[in-house]
Order: sequence, then structure tokens, then C-alpha cells
Amino acid sequence: MPGLFDLGGQAALVTGASGGLGRHFALVLARAGAKVALAARRGDALEKVAAEIASFDGRAFPVIMDVTDPASIEAGVRAAETELGPITILVNNSGIALTGPVLGQSEEDWDRVLETNLNGARRVSRAVAEHMIRLGHAGAIVNIASILGFRVRAQVSAYAASKAALIQLTRSMAVELARHSIRVNALAPGYIVTDLNRDFLSSPQGEEIRQKTPQRRFLEPQDLDGPLLLLCGPGSSGMTGSVVVVDGGRSAVF
Ligand SMILES: NC(=O)c1ccc[n+]([C@@H]2O[C@H](COP(=O)([O-])OP(=O)(O)OC[C@H]3O[C@@H](n4cnc5c(N)ncnc54)[C@H](OP(=O)(O)O)[C@@H]3O)[C@@H](O)[C@H]2O)c1
Repeated sequence: MPGLFDLGGQAALVTGASGGLGRHFALVLARAGAKVALAARRGDALEKVAAEIASFDGRAFPVIMDVTDPASIEAGVRAAETELGPITILVNNSGIALTGPVLGQSEEDWDRVLETNLNGARRVSRAVAEHMIRLGHAGAIVNIASILGFRVRAQVSAYAASKAALIQLTRSMAVELARHSIRVNALAPGYIVTDLNRDFLSSPQGEEIRQKTPQRRFLEPQDLDGPLLLLCGPGSSGMTGSVVVVDGGRSAVF
């Protein structure tokens, strides 16, 4: 049906847009017609993504933002809205993964993962949702979770806990923000090769994961395009508090 994936006239903010999935998501939203604020800490990488978007006549605006720093979030959201107009779509994609056993993990490592993956998404959501409510317009928030939010492996406790909590935050915000016409959903990908996991996925354990995935492959960023556009756009007008799993069947396997 035409129009269901059309984001023309909308302004989106994508965190972690300097590389990996966030860069890809920003390109997808821009191709669908959205103006896109590109947020992350590495300004030079953001400039490159902005140039890619400009090359097909898309509109992008780089915003230096550290999601662990509330002041940088406030300033970044304000700068993005001044440049692009009110943000109607937020993709909380910034994330880090640290591996290691629960026993012996440093407080700093645990806190860093939770601060980025959970608290970062909460802070940016709050800043953007407050603007949406003040300006009285509808919006869509998409949190990038993971199948590790409901399944676990050894050595990823902080990451898995952060993503499980992000899924519950998604549902909590969906319940509270529905009255303001703000929808909040999560996308839970399986394994896609990026800087986050390249070494791990090329190890024997990575190969084991690939073998146990019904589609016998790691996903490509493009596998997320349809689900992302669905959750950001008018095609999902009745969806909020949902978690959309895109994992090649991995989490269906016992
Ligand atoms: N790849 C997968 O298989 C997979 C599967 C499931 C879920 N995910 C999730 O997808 C998201 C993107 O992952 P990825 O694979 O694309 O990883 P990536 O290539 O390592 O990219 C992570 C992004 O997060 C940004 N970031 C990290 N800390 C930040 C901070 N404090 N403030 C702002 N931005 C920050 C980084 O930008 P700067 O360094 O420039 O700040 C970078 O752009 C993550 O939430 C991840 O958990 C990935």
C-alpha cells in the first residue's frame, strides 16, 4: 500500500549514527523522506554520513551527543530541532557491548554498559518526548534492543540485562505516552556483523551461532529496513509497546 513507509515531512533523530546499524538506519530514514539528525560522539564520522545523505539530496544534520551526558543530550536535541524542526521520530540505537564473566566484572564496566544502553536511551527519549508533548505533536520512538534482551549467552550479562531492561522501559513508556499520541516500540535484532561484534562473530563461537540460526546466516543491516520503517511510520499506527524480533529464526530454536 503506498504511503505506509513514507516519512516525508518528518524529522528523525538517530543516536549512534556515526557507524554500524545507526548509520544504516539514518540512510534508510533519509531515503524514506525524513530529515535526519545524526547523533553520536565522533563528529568526523557523522560528517561523512551527512555527506552520504546529501549525495542523494537527503537532509541530514550532525549533532555531537554523548548519551551518558544529560547536558549534551539537551543541547543536541535543541540544536536538531532548531535546524530540522520538531523531532517526530527517535531511534535509540547507541549501544556498547563489553564481554566478560559476571564474577570479576568491574563496577565501571557494568555501569558503562547500563549507562549507555539503558540510561542513555531513557534520557534521550525523555528529552525528545518532552519536546513532542510541549509542541503537541505525535511521535514514534524505536528502541534498538536485542534478542539478548530475552535470551542469554555466557559473558554478556551487562549487555543482556541492559537490553532486557530496555524492553521493559519500552513497554512502560508506551503505556505512559499513549495519551500523548507517542508510540514506543522496540526492534530486537539477532546477529549482524558490525564493529560491535566482528571479532566475536568470526570466532568458533560465532560460527556456532550461525549454524544454529535457522536461516544459517548472520543478518544484513538491510534485513532491518522494513521493520524499522514499519515502526517509524504510519504503517504501525496501532502498535505501541511491541517488540519486533528480526533474527533469522535464532530465538525460536531451543
Ligand atoms: N550488531 C548486532 O548484531 C546487533 C544485534 C542486536 C542489537 N544491536 C544493537 O544495535 C545498536 C547498534 O549496534 P552496532 O552493531 O551498530 O554497533 P557499533 O557499530 O559499535 O555502533 C555503536 C554506535 O553507538 C554509538 N555510541 C556508543 N556509545 C555512545 C555514547 N555514549 N553516546 C552516543 N553514542 C554512542 C557509537 O558512536 P560514537 O562512538 O561515535 O559515539 C556508534 O555509532 C546497539 O544498541 C546494539 O546493542 C546490534
